[in-house]
Amino acid sequence: MGKVISFINLKGGVGKTTTTVALAEFLTYEFNKKVLVIDLDPQTNATILLINQDTWKKANENNKTIHQMFFDELNNTKAFNIEDSIIKRTSNINGGNDNLHLLPSSLNLIDLSDRLSELDKNHETNKYSIPILSKHLKRDLINRYDYVLIDCPPNLALITLNGIYVSDYYVIPVIPDILSTYGIPQMLDKIELSKRKIKRLNPSYNLCELGLIINKMIKNSGMHKRTLSDLQNRQTKPTKDPSYVPKLFESIIYQRDSSSNIADFDQAISTIKKKYHSNYSDYRNLALEFMSRTNL
Ligand SMILES: Nc1ncnc2c1ncn2[C@@H]1O[C@H](COP(=O)(O)OP(=O)(O)O)[C@@H](O)[C@H]1O
Ligand SMILES: [Mg+2]
Repeated sequence: MGKVISFINLKGGVGKTTTTVALAEFLTYEFNKKVLVIDLDPQTNATILLINQDTWKKANENNKTIHQMFFDELNNTKAFNIEDSIIKRTSNINGGNDNLHLLPSSLNLIDLSDRLSELDKNHETNKYSIPILSKHLKRDLINRYDYVLIDCPPNLALITLNGIYVSDYYVIPVIPDILSTYGIPQMLDKIELSKRKIKRLNPSYNLCELGLIINKMIKNSGMHKRTLSDLQNRQTKPTKDPSYVPKLFESIIYQRDSSSNIADFDQAISTIKKKYHSNYSDYRNLALEFMSRTNL
């Protein structure tokens, strides 16, 4: 059974996209898993980390992105075909990997967000706009993969709710500083509310938390160390406690050193070790823990 996991944080810049793509690459290149990445963010960052600009441009011009999926729903058209839109060889490591697939996003998606909320104007459950992705991402498609990783935009609006709707789990990447962790309890409340909303549409729905991923930790920062130990104490609180946070992944992703360039797709690179450089063992350990947590 394929597992579907959404990467969520209402804040941008915490590493949702970087962590989604790194895990996808480690799961395929190091552990031989089959992975589909779904880029639900109109910013298209995961897309441009996994394919070159020409491939993206072609997909965009041929309407083979998730923009078309939402557009169809708004305009009663049927142009989107998920099978045709999935790019079946991605990544810039060693010329790409046939087990790492991508359903790309499009900048044009920004224009649709407001119109999508209109769909449900008279329904408090968002019954038209939340299950759009689930109509295309069917179980048999999910089961062709070990993992479907969904990179979500930094909000809990309709596009993200579409990701949550099809997910078995969610993870929250965070930077261990006061500003970045301050809003975690509010975020958990919002996710809980969204779960209840979805349960009204689909009573068998169940979304489990997989944990917090600490990202961009600076080794010699006292503030980061204090925030980390604060989070470690809070993860043992009862879930009802207002300061509760989900269980931290023990593997921490440290701030990468400036010599590695993981953000430039066009820099062809021969091995995953070279690409992730100083972060290689951080991500490798994270992927191991990720596999063990999702096999509970
Ligand atoms: N461990 C890390 N060390 C250094 N820079 C990082 C790390 N993780 C992410 N970044 C950088 O931080 C920025 C924001 O990360 P990104 O994954 O795009 O966040 P989000 O998807 O949450 O907005 C990007 O420039 C990314 O390259
Ligand atoms: Mg992002």
